[in-house]
Amino acid sequence: MTTTNRPAAQAGSYRVGTLGLNRIGNGAMKLAGPGVFGPPRDRAAAIEVLRTAVGLGVNHIDTADAYGPYITNEIIREALFPYGDHVHIVTKVGLVRDERGGWLPGNSPESLRAQVHDNLRRLGLGVLDVVNLRTLAGIDDRATVPGELARQFEALAELQQQGLIRHLGLSTVSLDQLAEAQRIVPVACVQNFYNIANRSDAAVLAATASQDIAYVPYFPLGGFSPLQSDVLESVAKRLGATPIAVAESWLLQRSPNVMLIPGTSSVDHLRENIAGAALALPPDAVAELDAI
Ligand SMILES: NC(=O)c1ccc[n+]([C@@H]2O[C@H](COP(=O)([O-])OP(=O)(O)OC[C@H]3O[C@@H](n4cnc5c(N)ncnc54)[C@H](OP(=O)(O)O)[C@@H]3O)[C@@H](O)[C@H]2O)c1
Repeated sequence: MTTTNRPAAQAGSYRVGTLGLNRIGNGAMKLAGPGVFGPPRDRAAAIEVLRTAVGLGVNHIDTADAYGPYITNEIIREALFPYGDHVHIVTKVGLVRDERGGWLPGNSPESLRAQVHDNLRRLGLGVLDVVNLRTLAGIDDRATVPGELARQFEALAELQQQGLIRHLGLSTVSLDQLAEAQRIVPVACVQNFYNIANRSDAAVLAATASQDIAYVPYFPLGGFSPLQSDVLESVAKRLGATPIAVAESWLLQRSPNVMLIPGTSSVDHLRENIAGAALALPPDAVAELDAI
């Protein structure tokens, strides 16, 4: 197959551990109901999003049992099982949900072990390609205890040694936490909040780039608050592209280790996001966007 009938390959690929993944993937969080809680309004449409993504060459799907909870993983299994060797699922552990949709810490070693086994069972897998340890940052900062991350990562490293996890990553971590985890086992990817309008994580992006670790920014399109910028709009207009394509391409040109997982519940948006990632930005546009 060529990149013409696999558009997701057009933005190139990057290695996450031993896996060669296309730099444009798919984030499955929006496939749960409103507030990432409960079932989606249209389950058939959610299944269609996933099947279309894989049909367009997406081989990297980001998920978590906390989405729904459980619903996103159940939909992924219904849509894509058996996965074959061309679909890689990246999941995360560390947060769980309460009965009203609140996000709670789930980061004791016992809870992390249970979450890994739950992900395996719900996805129907014998081994998880990538598991990211999500810290409590932004959820319950008071509950973050220095040194705790090492104990949590050790629990996941044990499961990796048992053959249940191929690669380990981190989510919402500082430079110090990245280094703390790396003293235990290699970190294959970091998933932190970063986009054209929110660049406070630049130091972690630079550190991962210098160490050939994949950097997967979440909220690449702004997440719950869509990106708004006059510069983004005017650059897009000048290039005859959409602001979304420009925002994606800006991220991809930022560093070769950046991989995108835009989230959507719409097949039309999915197609737009995959096509948009192939946009080449001229240097003057990059300079203008850098100055936002
Ligand atoms: N590690 C973490 O703590 C963490 C946190 C948040 C997210 N994530 C991961 O990162 C992924 C991406 O984040 P995200 O989905 O929250 O945010 P995002 O990709 O920045 O934006 C998603 C939002 O943009 C809309 N959208 C997508 N494509 C569009 C298009 N072409 N035109 C107009 N609107 C469009 C979606 O609505 P429609 O459904 O209407 O398209 C949705 O509301 C998630 O799916 C999840 O896997 C991880």
